[in-house]
Amino acid sequence: MEKILVLDFGGQYNQLIARRVRDGSVYAEIIPYSKITADQIKEAGYKGIILTGGPNSVYDAKSPHYDPKILDLKIPILGICYGDQLVAFMAGGTVSSAENGSEYGSTELQITENCPLFDGVPDESVCWMSHTDYISRVPDGFCTVAVTKSCPCAAMCDSSRKIYGVQFHPEVTHTEYGRKIIDNFIYKICGCAGDWDVENYAEKTIESLKKKLDGKKVLLALSGGVDSSVAALILSRAVGERLICVFVDHGLLRKGEGDLVEKTFKGKFGLNLIRVNAKDRFLKELDGVTEPEKKRKIIGSEFIRVFEEEAKKLGHIDVLAQGTIYPDVIESGKGDSAVIKSHHNVGGLPEAISFDEIVEPLRDLFKDEVRRVGTMLGLPSELVWRQPFPGPGLAVRVIGAITEEKLAILRDADAIFREEIAKSDIKTKPDQFFAVLTDTKTVGVMGDARTYGYTVALRAVTTDDFMTAEWTKLPYEVLGRASSRITNEVPGVSRVVYDISSKPPATVEWE
Ligand code: XMP
Repeated sequence: MEKILVLDFGGQYNQLIARRVRDGSVYAEIIPYSKITADQIKEAGYKGIILTGGPNSVYDAKSPHYDPKILDLKIPILGICYGDQLVAFMAGGTVSSAENGSEYGSTELQITENCPLFDGVPDESVCWMSHTDYISRVPDGFCTVAVTKSCPCAAMCDSSRKIYGVQFHPEVTHTEYGRKIIDNFIYKICGCAGDWDVENYAEKTIESLKKKLDGKKVLLALSGGVDSSVAALILSRAVGERLICVFVDHGLLRKGEGDLVEKTFKGKFGLNLIRVNAKDRFLKELDGVTEPEKKRKIIGSEFIRVFEEEAKKLGHIDVLAQGTIYPDVIESGKGDSAVIKSHHNVGGLPEAISFDEIVEPLRDLFKDEVRRVGTMLGLPSELVWRQPFPGPGLAVRVIGAITEEKLAILRDADAIFREEIAKSDIKTKPDQFFAVLTDTKTVGVMGDARTYGYTVALRAVTTDDFMTAEWTKLPYEVLGRASSRITNEVPGVSRVVYDISSKPPATVEWE
């Protein structure tokens, strides 16, 4: 399989670079610069190398450097931002700090020389810049091929060695011809055929798992989230009945969700699914608990306990499967093989279950690729496009102590809000939206009678990565319909408010 190495120097857009290469039907893998040597790169047979951006300055002694041998491997190289400066530095050029400060944002790019990287790119276009240092003297053998008003070397190349560098970020959509530049690199310069696609990759994974897991018993904790759902479908295609899925229903799921998971996996797909109805256990442990972190800890450890008890009943397990996806691998383990995704972000790997190995069928895939595989394997769109849902579930959306009554109110209010958004003609739906049951009761009036009921808060956010988020400016009509339906249809609610806080300073969840 032809592949491109994305050598990671810690920049914020690094996953995006790999995504763009994969969108061009070439497999790309991200490896931190400290985890692979130049000799290993050579041995791995990459068709091309992209050196990523990073937050450092090449002259800072602590900043990441690399073995200059990489320039002599005869593998095409593209340096981006910090990667560009690093190439210049390794090849003997000069990198300086900009006197006029940083160049940031959309910038006019002017191509000054012919270069295969810019085939089909007009002489003037817009690129995205984000840098303070710049290349003030290109190394011997290189020539400057593009400039901006304040950057004397916005791109450089040494065509004879197929080494290129761009100061701007072709991977972000603000760079008008970014797609073209990446395509030029992977196809024209690296000579890739572009025969990778995720569906094909999934089929091959299934075939290889069939051999690898021959005769073995596999256990998977299925939550109904897209990752564990797609992992379940891949594994069931590989080992059939020998896959046992344990679905711990902690009673803190949204309306109808537990039944949907059971109906889908047991009914539609005929999976060997054990649904453990553990609501009473969880609610007993959570009784009277109001502190959010305590709720999370209780749910995490109770989850592991229930999962372990079920697993023990099954006897020895050969393989424990996990729905780890590529961003988890990159973020938590920097590409190390035995990265363990903790259940629900709390607790950890069950200790009391004995198993021989771990299998993570999605560990090479990004979230949208996982969704594509899910669609290909017939997963219903409600599950493929399920919005993120916290492991501790509604427990962190019922503010204060949790009771069955409060959970029932929240479930109904939340379902109405989600229905109204689904029915609306909003073009771009919020990335996450839900209801919260506050712990505040207020006075209301219904008919001629005074009521005294809960306040429901509605929350909708727009975000790329959930690290920061903006509150979504939902149309008043949608909010109005949701509010009036919730107060009319859900007994116990007398008031609905809309949360207009962004993150930071607020968080997405209330607890
Ligand atoms: P916050 O509230 O931290 O949420 O801004 C960011 C994203 O993470 C989800 N979230 C969780 N997911 N376990 C999870 O698996 C948790 O304990 C948890 N807390 C928050 C939240 O829904 C949002 O998408």
